[in-house]
Amino acid sequence: MAEDFKVTPWEVTGDIDYGLLQERFGTTSIDDALLERLEGYGEIHPMLRRGIFYSHRDVNLLLDEFDKGNKFVLYTGRGPSGNTHLGHIMPWVFNKWIQDVFDVEMLFQMTDDEKFLFKDLTLEQTRSMAYENALDFVALGFDPKKTKIILDTENIKTLYPIALKVSKKITFSTARAVFGFDNSTNLGSIFFTSVQAAPAFLPTEEAGRQVPCLIPCGIDQDPHFRVARDVANGLGYPKPTMIYCKMFPGLSGGDKMSSSDENATIYTTDKPKVVKKKVGRAFTGGCVTVEEQREKGGNPEVCAVFKYFFYMFEKDDSKVNELAVKCRAGGILCGECKAELTTRINVFLEEHQAKREKAREIVDRMTYDGFKWNKDGE
Ligand code: TRP
Repeated sequence: MAEDFKVTPWEVTGDIDYGLLQERFGTTSIDDALLERLEGYGEIHPMLRRGIFYSHRDVNLLLDEFDKGNKFVLYTGRGPSGNTHLGHIMPWVFNKWIQDVFDVEMLFQMTDDEKFLFKDLTLEQTRSMAYENALDFVALGFDPKKTKIILDTENIKTLYPIALKVSKKITFSTARAVFGFDNSTNLGSIFFTSVQAAPAFLPTEEAGRQVPCLIPCGIDQDPHFRVARDVANGLGYPKPTMIYCKMFPGLSGGDKMSSSDENATIYTTDKPKVVKKKVGRAFTGGCVTVEEQREKGGNPEVCAVFKYFFYMFEKDDSKVNELAVKCRAGGILCGECKAELTTRINVFLEEHQAKREKAREIVDRMTYDGFKWNKDGE
């Protein structure tokens, strides 16, 4: 079955074999030596320890530069096509950790153009979604003085000269091979990868010297940055450094939380009752009867509820391990696990939703070049 999966920036299907994916993309495992080196800067984030952020390109080179006093700029982004869910939040939490540990500037690109081009959405829709999504990003506590949000249709004047330079170096034949485009692909989509590359090179343009860039994101974005890295040096930019995470799982047992499966997706604005219902229906792979479960035990490897503890909702490693052992031994029932996870998610969301409201005051000050948001209902 492992051969059947597909991962592109626009589509993730099948059971992902993350080892094989890394091989196909040509990225490198985050090994113990690198973890040890990272430990020298601050306590290792659980997402690194657990192999959720598991693959990279050139992190050692970036750290060499950092050690010499050449600070990097952090960059990640979001394509505003709907409400923010937990799968979007996960890599942002990691970005926030990097910003804190290394005390660096951050760029957050919102690709309203991309979602307009690739989905059945109007520009007005993607722009107002960008505002809603930005609230979730800001709610995570990024330093407002060190973080700027780029909205493509607003900041295109800044991005365009860089995107042009990038696009001139990429042939259609490369784009077709990397992204799977064909004769029915619209022109905007073909050009788009150069717009996503631009923020990685912006700090170098602004400073007039080589500024390294670190991009923590889902590994599905690698095709964009593989191409960007190929053209970088030829344009006088450093190759962006990548650090990649696995996709955040859906509640139905799928490999990626996705808005196309509403019931298996937890949005940042979900109310406690909704969360309870969704987690209640989650796939666990557990047995049908209590007796059977006690006797045979459960299977944390396939259980969506366990994955949620592992990815985000249990920070203590020994407790995660304990949970797995107990589950396999039939010492805990799926219902009990679901109740605990519901509580944890709701505690997180209650806090997040309060910060999200406060973010409304901050987000206006965090726009690149001071652009004005297109807020819903205005
Ligand atoms: N294409 C990404 C998405 O659809 C958005 C994005 C833009 C991004 N720039 C990025 C993601 C940099 C990660 C890193 O969500």
